[in-house]
Amino acid sequence: MRVAHLTSADPDVVAHDLDRPYLEVAFAERGLELVSCAWEDPSVDWEGFDMIMVRSPWNYVEHEDEFRRFLRRFGASPRLHNPAAVIDWNLDKHYLDELAALGVPVIPTTYVHDGRDVTDALANNSDVDVVVKPTVSAGSRLTGRFAAGDRRAESLAHEILADGRAVMVQPYLDSVDTEAEYAVIVIDGEIAHRARKAQILEVGGTFVGGEYREVLTPTPVDHELDAAARRAAEACRDLVRARGWLSADAELLYARYDVARSAEGAVLLEAELFEPALFLPVAPASAALLAAAVDRRIASIPSS
Ligand SMILES: Nc1ncnc2c1ncn2[C@@H]1O[C@H](COP(=O)(O)OP(=O)(O)O)[C@@H](O)[C@H]1O
Ligand SMILES: [Mg+2]
Repeated sequence: MRVAHLTSADPDVVAHDLDRPYLEVAFAERGLELVSCAWEDPSVDWEGFDMIMVRSPWNYVEHEDEFRRFLRRFGASPRLHNPAAVIDWNLDKHYLDELAALGVPVIPTTYVHDGRDVTDALANNSDVDVVVKPTVSAGSRLTGRFAAGDRRAESLAHEILADGRAVMVQPYLDSVDTEAEYAVIVIDGEIAHRARKAQILEVGGTFVGGEYREVLTPTPVDHELDAAARRAAEACRDLVRARGWLSADAELLYARYDVARSAEGAVLLEAELFEPALFLPVAPASAALLAAAVDRRIASIPSS
């Protein structure tokens, strides 16, 4: 069986995909050949794969329309995971609002679609550091943390709007610095592992250490954070089933839920349903769980 590992042609992207070597080994152990394919490469014969597993197409952020168009060719194909419609929904973080409406505790977020609303949105968060970021993003692109009143927050918001994206304004959660983000990786409906991701944003619009870098560590279970991630996972599963993007008894192949503590309790920062780094360097055994889940899906697809 052949599985396409969907990535990008951008060498910077490929260099950041730390899961790939673990997957390669685990898939080979199950007799699955994993072939890296760039989504932008017109010469790829997608029909020639038993499964197409979306993993690291992380430059979609700069090519959103092309990427959405690329996905459309798969329609509701059971060979693409997660399904194209799920990706289309999950690509834009307005989904956080829908999850909040379903009762998931979500980081308080003000969405700004018009330059005239920037000042008011920033004024809402006047006693804490503020995060300004685009609704479509990966790898902290155009993402900044600023002290209250720093005019650079406004500039970044206008830059994001000029880039064609809506802006998200959030309070900066200090727990990200003091105890790190808490990521729950779910494979085929079961929690596979958890990891901590250290602080990334420095006050003033820069990154810790001068460049974007994810520092990951394994973590023991934290019941409060876990509960928030589980609620997010249930809400996402129910939503994608209700919309007919997954059948009523199916699970997403994989997902990652990033949560952090706030004064009001644990909140969801992100539900990554199509391109999460799975943080396999801190949990190598989970690669075999994913290979097994892919194997089960391939076995259940009626041959054409
Ligand atoms: N409200 C926030 N509070 C604390 N840290 C944040 C907040 N929003 C973003 N960050 C930091 O910025 C990083 C990137 O933001 P995120 O929303 O995860 O976007 P993406 O990973 O899609 O670029 C996070 O991993 C986290 O370190
Ligand atoms: Mg993130």
